[in-house]
Amino acid sequence: MTTAKLEQIYLDTKYLSIKYDSYFPVYEDLLAKYVGKNITLVEVGIFNGGSLFMWREFLGPEARIIGIDLNPSAKMWEEHGFEIYIGDQADEEFWNKFFKNVGSIDVLIDDGGHTNLQQIATVHCAIEHIRDGGLLIVEDVHTSYFREFGNPWSRSFVNFASRIVDGVNSRAFALKTARERYAKRVYRVSFFESIVALHINASLCKKSVPISNKGIS
Ligand SMILES: C[S@@+](CC[C@H](N)C(=O)[O-])C[C@H]1O[C@@H](n2cnc3c(N)ncnc32)[C@H](O)[C@@H]1O
Repeated sequence: MTTAKLEQIYLDTKYLSIKYDSYFPVYEDLLAKYVGKNITLVEVGIFNGGSLFMWREFLGPEARIIGIDLNPSAKMWEEHGFEIYIGDQADEEFWNKFFKNVGSIDVLIDDGGHTNLQQIATVHCAIEHIRDGGLLIVEDVHTSYFREFGNPWSRSFVNFASRIVDGVNSRAFALKTARERYAKRVYRVSFFESIVALHINASLCKKSVPISNKGIS
């Protein structure tokens, strides 16, 4: 799949979606392995529905596409074959009920309200429910630098994501640190312009141990 392909799918989508042009190569990089697969992708933030159609066209008919929005009128997209849940991404109770219904998922894309609280709560509540090999992608993280979002701040989403990197490095044998919550599931953190991706793989999140091949020294 080429960069032009996803962007072309986006441009050809009938319903409105607002993205940045820098996002298409990022999504192709991150999501290529799911194309044609029977996976579950959840997007927070439906707006005019365009991105739900874009993901379906890109991933293929086997993909289960679920949308979440605060706005109850988003339910209209159910008649196009999408599963729609109405709720607040900053509400832990909403997420508990959501995952009880939906089960484990492969990919979550957060394109909702973009505040620190909403982005952090979404990671915190969803991370346990993403399968190994899955992704938790947060869009528009440039809001971590917006004054109107209360930033820059030590508790911005980007600073939160940087602390997850500290957690990943806490797995190093040379550091006698306890593994924190996210470091048990986040194998890798990718920072792109305006996008942070957490690569979930609990089976690879072991404390490292030194090994030797016992070769000639
Ligand atoms: C940027 S738009 C989504 C755009 C869409 N993904 C697209 O590509 O066209 C943001 C959406 O997030 C929803 N939203 C805002 N705050 C939310 C919250 N706390 N929980 C869930 N959805 C929220 C808004 O109603 C709006 O539809």
